[in-house]
Amino acid sequence: MSYNLLKGKKGIIFGALDEKSIAWKTAIRCYEEGASLVLTNAPVALRMGEINKLAASVQAPVIGADVTNMDDLKKLLEESIKHFGSKIDFILHSVGMSLNVRKGKEYTGLDYHFNQKTLDISAMSLHRVLQTAWDLDALNEWGSVVALTYIAAQRVFPDYSEMADAKALLESVARSFGYHYGMRKKVRINTVSQSPTRTTAGSGVKGFDGFMAYADKMSPLGNASGEDCAAYCAVLFSDMTRMVTMQNLFHDGGFSLTGVTEAIINQMEK
Ligand SMILES: NC(=O)c1ccc[n+]([C@@H]2O[C@H](COP(=O)([O-])OP(=O)(O)OC[C@H]3O[C@@H](n4cnc5c(N)ncnc54)[C@H](O)[C@@H]3O)[C@@H](O)[C@H]2O)c1
Repeated sequence: MSYNLLKGKKGIIFGALDEKSIAWKTAIRCYEEGASLVLTNAPVALRMGEINKLAASVQAPVIGADVTNMDDLKKLLEESIKHFGSKIDFILHSVGMSLNVRKGKEYTGLDYHFNQKTLDISAMSLHRVLQTAWDLDALNEWGSVVALTYIAAQRVFPDYSEMADAKALLESVARSFGYHYGMRKKVRINTVSQSPTRTTAGSGVKGFDGFMAYADKMSPLGNASGEDCAAYCAVLFSDMTRMVTMQNLFHDGGFSLTGVTEAIINQMEK
């Protein structure tokens, strides 16, 4: 069901790789809520071609941009403004990648060259996007920016490895830039800390299935789905949440504040 929450709003969605992507589901939800969109992803991801299906269904152009490349980001924002014929109301940052995890390197044996790339792609990219928008004055007053994160920024999940550090940095960038953008243009910036979700990035974490089942049993409401996350992001882009900024918002069925559940105790007693 649609509530027309985003009628007339214009947004950029980073990170729709395939239909499992949280960004993919968010694009669909925002479109259903009345938004006009631009889709973007890294040139290498665009070559897969999947995104063109999404583009057709949400009537959005696709503009390639590597989030670590300032020229790409400038071009993306300039072309988006040209496409919309106005400034931008919201941005979803749904980007993450760990080179060390991908190359099978443990947290205690990091390659620092990979590590720098991980932090750049997964965390400082939010700063790069925001600074580019700031310089171009690309966002409307009361605009909204959301980046996706994970609770490994606060608590240890060993196999999440260097991505935990990347998420801690990402959340800090959201707070720090949230201050400046709030002061300058009433733009709000938040992170959404999502339950484990079966996507390409998610399944890259070692032991993901067990981990997902554990989180589900540890959450009073169960794991939040990608579709639920998309709906939450749409609300955060809407005028219903104008005074929410600089927050890390847990969207996890209650996992973050649960010490233990009966299901876990029963399993331990077996
Ligand atoms: N899946 C989960 O369990 C989970 C849980 C909490 C948070 N998150 C976060 O949600 C976000 C989206 O991930 P997802 O789970 O939908 O997986 P996904 O693999 O579908 O999305 C990750 C995206 O990042 C993009 N990307 C990687 N490098 C890039 C670059 N250099 N430039 C531009 N884009 C680049 C990929 O192309 C891909 O589209 C990530 O920040 C992830 O950490 C995921």
